[in-house]
Amino acid sequence: MSTSCCIGISTMKPCCRILIGCKSCSFFGISTRKLNHSVVDNLSKLRSKSVRRRRYRSCNSRIAEYIRVIDQDRRAFCVSDPNSGKSSLFSGVHNRGTSRRGSKRGVLVIANVASDFRNHSTSVEAHVNEKNFERIYVQGGLNVKPLVVERIETGPDDVVKEQESGVEVNGPNTVNVDNFKDLKDPINVEREVSEIEREAWRLLQDSVVSYCGNPVGTVAANDPADKQPLNYDQVFIRDFVPSALAFLLRGETEIVKNFLLHTLQLQSWEKTVDCHSPGQGLMPASFKVRTVPLDGSNGAFEEVLDPDFGESAIGRVAPVDSGLWWIILLRAYGKITGDYGLQERVDVQTGIRLILNLCLSDGFDMFPTLLVTDGSCMIDRRMGIHGHPLEIQALFYSALRSSREMLTVNDNTRTLVAAINNRLSALSFHIREYYWVDMKKINEIYRYKTEEYSTDAINKFNIYPDQIPAWLVDWIPEEGGYLIGNLQPAHMDFRFFTLGNLWSIISSLGTSKQNEDILNLIESKWDDLMGQMPLKICYPALEYEEWRIITGGDPKNTPWSYHNGGSWPTLLWQFTLACIKMGKPDLAEKAVALAEKRLGVDQWPEYYDTRSGRFIGKQSRLFQTWTIAGFLASKMLLENPERASLLFWEEDYELLQTCVCALGKTGGRRKCTRFAARS
Ligand code: GLC
Repeated sequence: MSTSCCIGISTMKPCCRILIGCKSCSFFGISTRKLNHSVVDNLSKLRSKSVRRRRYRSCNSRIAEYIRVIDQDRRAFCVSDPNSGKSSLFSGVHNRGTSRRGSKRGVLVIANVASDFRNHSTSVEAHVNEKNFERIYVQGGLNVKPLVVERIETGPDDVVKEQESGVEVNGPNTVNVDNFKDLKDPINVEREVSEIEREAWRLLQDSVVSYCGNPVGTVAANDPADKQPLNYDQVFIRDFVPSALAFLLRGETEIVKNFLLHTLQLQSWEKTVDCHSPGQGLMPASFKVRTVPLDGSNGAFEEVLDPDFGESAIGRVAPVDSGLWWIILLRAYGKITGDYGLQERVDVQTGIRLILNLCLSDGFDMFPTLLVTDGSCMIDRRMGIHGHPLEIQALFYSALRSSREMLTVNDNTRTLVAAINNRLSALSFHIREYYWVDMKKINEIYRYKTEEYSTDAINKFNIYPDQIPAWLVDWIPEEGGYLIGNLQPAHMDFRFFTLGNLWSIISSLGTSKQNEDILNLIESKWDDLMGQMPLKICYPALEYEEWRIITGGDPKNTPWSYHNGGSWPTLLWQFTLACIKMGKPDLAEKAVALAEKRLGVDQWPEYYDTRSGRFIGKQSRLFQTWTIAGFLASKMLLENPERASLLFWEEDYELLQTCVCALGKTGGRRKCTRFAARS
């Protein structure tokens, strides 16, 4: 029996998270065999050097998976002890070469250890020197992100294997960009492919970004004539989702796997905005592959990944939706490929947990909805969506449902899983009850009494009836309804936000009746929401004083342009998914046909302007990748409704039950009205 040893070191601001394992593994090029009792000292030295040297992740930072311990016996793991700062022993059992279940048990054992590293990690200052490192390490440290070094050291025979993720350069599973040559001639698609689809596939292929020879994502826009691409030459997490779906539905899975793993690596990146470090689970809004001179070599270059966590973004907006999209895409990858091994990996499980920890951490919140700043999602500029915007809540709900399916349940995650269940339950209740408006509800609000002080208040948020906007009085149809954009004390944002409403349908955040009604509303308001180009990002636009006050007079967000009532073709794939779920694919077909008439001719714009989406957006990028991919994904989803069904969720009655039980047990003062919120 050989001994496995894990060393968890939390350090100062890292340039990357490093997983060390195997025979002659090295830490920044220095053999880890030398790591012994004074490992903390050594690592602090190495780390100090490395931090000075690099701020990027380079190809050399391999993505390794430490989930297989090839030993049938009991094994001991040596991990950092948060109390002593020294090593202590953990033990676990692992079966080699057993069934999937068996190997999973092995995963659990190490998963516990690995995640303990993070939980026990202590933050220390970037400029820490060797002397004070141990003090800080032991005492709890300064406010800087930890570097987590996870190491499984083997016995003399090095029986612990690292399983490579398949993204290592020249590794056996390497994805060659040439594989995408096929896309030029999509022969795999059985039906006749139209000229416009052919063009779309070619453009999508051209947008592929590779890192160390492997495809890892797609740029946001790829217009050769654009002299000022700003950050549109980067891979955005949210933008890549439709690209990923198009690739997955076509059987091109490696790019998606690579994307998921590389962005995961960026999660524990150094991130500071003016001396402040956001939470460790934060995913970047985007990343770029840069070529930089190789340290110490003459004229040689290496590729590095350079993430943007909002520190360079216009307005310094927080990419709250990135982590949620990442989780949703991870689930989609498993569902479509059947490769569940990816989500079971220790590092991936830890990634999910970090994102969830960030979302579920306690704050001053009174509601189960996620509290965010303005512009923290697709609408990444000031648009009055701070607080509890629907888009974030719907993605949050979808990510929680995804995580519930993917998280490995063990002693370490049991509390988290319980928290997820409770949050799911409370969140859907809250949204169904308080965000929903239809004719009846608006009439109720119209007659609200205000200034009610009691737990039994009908008008809980003290909404003044005068807030009902004039446009809504005429706009709300007799049949149908929707979820409002935002809810805060004395404030209901009655604007219709498309992405949030679509994801409420897709994830069953709304009741089945509500979901049906949302689609009914879209159908009856077709001219307003689809117009000449699907799909309005929100309706209606902010105008005059409201525009001036709420957007700050943003010239890019003028009425009926960009985020302020502009039309975004990328929303099409999400609309398609919602339609398929609700048994109305014909509606989606109608919208896709509308888009198909113009997208290619107009050179695949990012967005359209005017009330009916007639003009190409004022500052719209052309050859926008998520426009292209969204169109392709819509087409493929319509052709493969059974595949589409893997991507949405039905009502979960167990969750409804949880809510009733939980309230009952804690002796809630009022009877849970959860079931009332059901259709
Ligand atoms: C704009 C959009 C944002 C998108 C990015 C890249 O900033 O507002 O949603 O992710 O462009 O396309």
